[in-house]
Amino acid sequence: MSVAKKQYKRVTTNSVIEMKANGEKISMLTAYDYTMAKIVDGAGIDIILVGDSASNVMAGHETTLPITLNEMIYHASSVVRAAKRSLVVVDLPFGTYQSDPKEALRSAIRIMKESGGHAIKVEGGKEIKESIKRILNAGIPVMGHLGLTPQSIYKFGTYTVRAREEAEAKKLKEDAKMLEKMGCFALVLEKVPAKLAQEVAESISIPVIGIGAGAGVDGQVLVTHDMVGMTHEFNPKFLRRYLNLYEEMTNVFKQYIDDVKSLDFPNESEQY
Ligand code: KIV
Repeated sequence: MSVAKKQYKRVTTNSVIEMKANGEKISMLTAYDYTMAKIVDGAGIDIILVGDSASNVMAGHETTLPITLNEMIYHASSVVRAAKRSLVVVDLPFGTYQSDPKEALRSAIRIMKESGGHAIKVEGGKEIKESIKRILNAGIPVMGHLGLTPQSIYKFGTYTVRAREEAEAKKLKEDAKMLEKMGCFALVLEKVPAKLAQEVAESISIPVIGIGAGAGVDGQVLVTHDMVGMTHEFNPKFLRRYLNLYEEMTNVFKQYIDDVKSLDFPNESEQY
């Protein structure tokens, strides 16, 4: 169903706060390169996330931990060149903001200066409060990320749903309130019970964008390569696959190999 919505020439951090206030759901997808970002932006997505999931999707690492700040800047600058309307949010990678607020600020400044991204995203609540404060004080918009925070995977030990227990749910609610109060413009909630996510979204004025967090939040984010089915080994319950590009691409690559081997390609009209 198509919903009547205000037209934005360029989506800003203020626009997404306004969308929540107006009851308009926010759409967010990942991109890590120019070509994908051009398609996603052209389709009208509100926010492009240059996620550190690039570590898995683009580089084939098992976790998001190995990706570096320079690599994130490379991905983000390619996306920024393509994005004409979308707000571009860039993940600060693991190890660039947790140890020291000054280093966190330096990392965020490098992202903003060298990639041209419009905002940064960090994982965690109270424990990284000082880093978030420094970054916000420098005028850099910050998106929070709570629930399943993949940079902490070795602490969690598993990618299972977070905050099912009362103590963790209570901390998550407190962290969300804290991020709102500090001035973060939005928050990602990953893999938490839908009821809890809705409660959080209703308790704060900044948008809550969910991944595996149910329908009661203010927007949704998916990893683009997963939703178009370029990846096929990752099948969480929350993932809707809109295409099966893994199979389709495999078939056309096989067709191409056959065409080359059988001298069918190139034909008369495909040469000079
Ligand atoms: O890195 C990423 O792609 C993310 C999304 C899953 C929210 O953080």
